[in-house]
Amino acid sequence: MQYAIVTGTSRGLGESIAKQFIEKNVHLISVSRNENKSLQKLADERKVSYTHISCDLSDPGQLEEGLEKIVNEAFHEDTHYVYLVNNAGVIEPINPVGELEPASVQKHFQVNVTAPVLLINRCLAEANKKEIGTSIINITSGAAERPVHGWSTYSSAKAAINRFTSTLALEQEGNKHVILAFSPGVMDTDMQGEIRASSKEEFKDVDKFKQMKEEGQLRSPHEVASILMDLINEPKEIENGKVYKVYDLVNE
Ligand SMILES: NC(=O)c1ccc[n+]([C@@H]2O[C@H](COP(=O)([O-])OP(=O)(O)OC[C@H]3O[C@@H](n4cnc5c(N)ncnc54)[C@H](OP(=O)(O)O)[C@@H]3O)[C@@H](O)[C@H]2O)c1
Repeated sequence: MQYAIVTGTSRGLGESIAKQFIEKNVHLISVSRNENKSLQKLADERKVSYTHISCDLSDPGQLEEGLEKIVNEAFHEDTHYVYLVNNAGVIEPINPVGELEPASVQKHFQVNVTAPVLLINRCLAEANKKEIGTSIINITSGAAERPVHGWSTYSSAKAAINRFTSTLALEQEGNKHVILAFSPGVMDTDMQGEIRASSKEEFKDVDKFKQMKEEGQLRSPHEVASILMDLINEPKEIENGKVYKVYDLVNE
């Protein structure tokens, strides 16, 4: 049996990725604070199993409990392959340094860095013990590669994920794991709504993002999820540790 563990499935890119795994008849383990009922319906139609684990990834206690549940659901006697997509992410706090709210900074790094690192750490140990192959996909952002005014935590968290991905690939050389980061480009999701709702003092480039929305430049999460699926369907073509960018994968 093949399992996909996808975080951040209640909406946006995570919802689309989860749906596309179900459509490929992969059993789904979804993780977010809110459950997405449409996934259960689709899984019933496709006759694949669906387990939702409600977990606030910003809460260390909930994360620890969630990890145990995730591993128990995904790694057992009948498992022969596991996909792990670390997609859940937050953009806030959007503000220049000096104006950052401490609790929000802690939550940010917990969701965007600590949770994916611990999830991979736990799943990889289990996979190697049981000799199960995995594909590990970390959703990153172009912001990892350049400073963005007002996004110090977001840019640095995504840069950390990129380096974590390349280090993991180095360590796992010769093992049967596919390891990559995927940069989805600008998508029409709630996260973009949060970005556009910022003031100019909080986020200097806000007008550029409003204009992109007005000009219809945002990709749908469904389209982006399909591009990711096409990529991971060809594991032999994948260079482990690399950051794959949506812009490089589409023929426009
Ligand atoms: N949108 C873009 O333009 C864009 C561009 C580049 C990269 N990305 C990246 O793409 C990924 C998906 O973004 P998106 O645009 O789809 O975001 P989104 O629409 O805001 O959805 C975020 C998802 O993450 C989950 N999440 C947030 N905080 C959580 C927490 N504390 N515990 C558990 N789950 C949590 C949410 O679920 P709950 O609220 O139910 O918990 C939700 O399902 C993120 O990693 C983001 O950084 C997005």
